[in-house]
Amino acid sequence: MTNTAFTPRVFSGIKPSGGLQLGNYLGAIKRFVGMQGEMETIYCVVDMHAITVWQDPAELANATREVAAGYLAAGLDPTKSILFNQSQVAAHAELGWIFNCVARVGWMNRMTQFKDKAGDNAEKHSLGLYAYPALMAADILLYHATHVPVGEDQKQHVELTRDIAKKFNHDYKVDFFPETAPVIDGPATRVMNLRDGTKKMSKSGESDMERINMTDDADKIAKKFKKAKSDAEPLPETVEGLADRPEARNLIDIYAALNDVTPADVVAEYAGAQWGKFKPALADLAVAKLAPISGEMARLMSDPAEIDRILADGSARAREIAQPILHKTYDIVGMLRS
Ligand code: TYM
Repeated sequence: MTNTAFTPRVFSGIKPSGGLQLGNYLGAIKRFVGMQGEMETIYCVVDMHAITVWQDPAELANATREVAAGYLAAGLDPTKSILFNQSQVAAHAELGWIFNCVARVGWMNRMTQFKDKAGDNAEKHSLGLYAYPALMAADILLYHATHVPVGEDQKQHVELTRDIAKKFNHDYKVDFFPETAPVIDGPATRVMNLRDGTKKMSKSGESDMERINMTDDADKIAKKFKKAKSDAEPLPETVEGLADRPEARNLIDIYAALNDVTPADVVAEYAGAQWGKFKPALADLAVAKLAPISGEMARLMSDPAEIDRILADGSARAREIAQPILHKTYDIVGMLRS
């Protein structure tokens, strides 16, 4: 099967759990905004994924609005993209169930993110956390999305989405679901922890100093970059010189992504410089780029009714695309719709 029969369409999502961090912005939101206008774009706040681990109900509603505010503050235009939260479109759960019956247990057992999150204690985790990649496949395929921009950590889940689409098409002898491509490009598809360049930056790291939160004010952003771990060498002359220097690589990648240049450009500009010169420059750049976004997020969060209105409108538009695809899926599977 080829994808030429499918209209190019982008889908991606972010979990509302624990607040947005710089990795979400550079690895996801900034790139999502850049794809607006290139093709149809659908972006989701995946609240049903968030509850695969415990979420306080009042905080979940607030975090859902905050992720929506993050998208909007970073430049997502709700007239150009569809912006909605997953639980307002019930078809996600419905297609998710069908895909639970397509995906194989052996496939789920290979998902490294589940292994990382559950550790040695898998039996105590929710069934939802284990099954969640099948719901993610439903999120994507419910819109026949062809392009899924994500950070590196989600690549395996998008590959699983392709396997589910292929098996469904094969088992039911149809060409119904596209083989979706992950879009993983640019210098910041894996932003690392500021205290340990071998670990991914995440919302759940132990210390707040390891990450930049999208709600951090200018002082905090500057302080965190100035205190970020680096190494004893000056900046290298070429990007090849960054091999085996994870902290240096990360700070240069972040600078490049914030400034819309390549790591090679950054290295060319700062070749031989000491960290005492580079880190304040990075801090200034980060404040210049991020403070307006966090300011706009705070402004948007002061009017939750407006965010709710945008999400309700986006949900209605999402349902219009999703419903016919779900119904056709039911027909293919043989579910009686009387
Ligand atoms: P989530 O909520 O963990 O992360 C949202 C997006 O941010 C990216 N990301 C990063 N990118 C670079 N560096 C980092 N340190 C970093 N941390 C997070 C993630 O790769 C992701 O693109 N399962 C998904 C959400 C999801 C989804 C979907 C995505 C549900 N359904 C359908 C795409 C399509 C997740 O948990 O992402």
